[in-house]
Amino acid sequence: MTGVLDGRIAVVTGAGRGVGAGIARALAKEGAHVAVVDIDAEAAETVAAELSSYAAVLAVRCDIRDSAQVDACVAEVVERFGTVDVLVNNAIDARGAGPFEATTDDDLDRVLDTGPKATLYFMRACFPHLRETDGGGRVINLRSGSEPQGLAGFGAYIASKAAIGGLTRVAAREWGRHGITVNNLAPFVLSDGARSHFDEHPEELEKVVRTLSLRRVGDAETDVGRAAVYLAGPDSSYVTGVTLSVDGGGSFFS
Ligand SMILES: NC(=O)c1ccc[n+]([C@@H]2O[C@H](COP(=O)([O-])OP(=O)(O)OC[C@H]3O[C@@H](n4cnc5c(N)ncnc54)[C@H](O)[C@@H]3O)[C@@H](O)[C@H]2O)c1
Repeated sequence: MTGVLDGRIAVVTGAGRGVGAGIARALAKEGAHVAVVDIDAEAAETVAAELSSYAAVLAVRCDIRDSAQVDACVAEVVERFGTVDVLVNNAIDARGAGPFEATTDDDLDRVLDTGPKATLYFMRACFPHLRETDGGGRVINLRSGSEPQGLAGFGAYIASKAAIGGLTRVAAREWGRHGITVNNLAPFVLSDGARSHFDEHPEELEKVVRTLSLRRVGDAETDVGRAAVYLAGPDSSYVTGVTLSVDGGGSFFS
């Protein structure tokens, strides 16, 4: 089987479930060797076992809040596969939504530690490898359409995602000369938590779907994962610093 990412080495954080698992699946099905990184070791192992029929995979337990663990994770990937060509910063711990004035210090720390701080840790650790890769290094950071919407109840989360957007823009400027592209994906799929909530309240899901231009919920692999394949692959070699919304037209980044 030949794929557009044959032999490329990808690190996907938070790939134990949800969007990250969908991205890992899509990359592996195009021939990329994938490091499935998650704080939930069992979930990472399960996804890695599933993907092993497509490519060489490695499950890594890593708490992305800890830069020493991030460095060790990247070192383990490099020891196993030789380099990192593609980095997908997907994981986040977004618990703690609520009214602006009720945002706690812990809520803020949680999304900043697992958002821009972890994103920077991984980008910093992968940079020496990304700049050496033959096909051009690729960084894909996960952002959110809730940011341009200013979605009520998500102040800390949106601050985290806006900071990630800033990191993407700066790295796109600085790393272009090394042949590295740095872009964002802004997806919309149902997370496990949202799915069980909407199973009990289907009328609420209908309301959400009516706000989407394309009137359907996205799929983590066939919608978001395929967009990641594009940003990770040769067809996007002249694209950097952008946010690609894969949310059915739920939001527009200008
Ligand atoms: N689901 C959506 O519709 C949506 C919309 C906009 C943006 N996003 C973004 O897409 C990404 C994935 O979203 P999702 O809905 O799949 O999230 P999710 O909560 O379902 O999955 C997050 C994953 O990150 C892992 N994780 C959490 N804390 C970690 C830590 N400290 N170290 C390592 N791994 C950790 C979790 O174990 C989990 O596997 C996030 O960046 C999110 O902001 C998602």
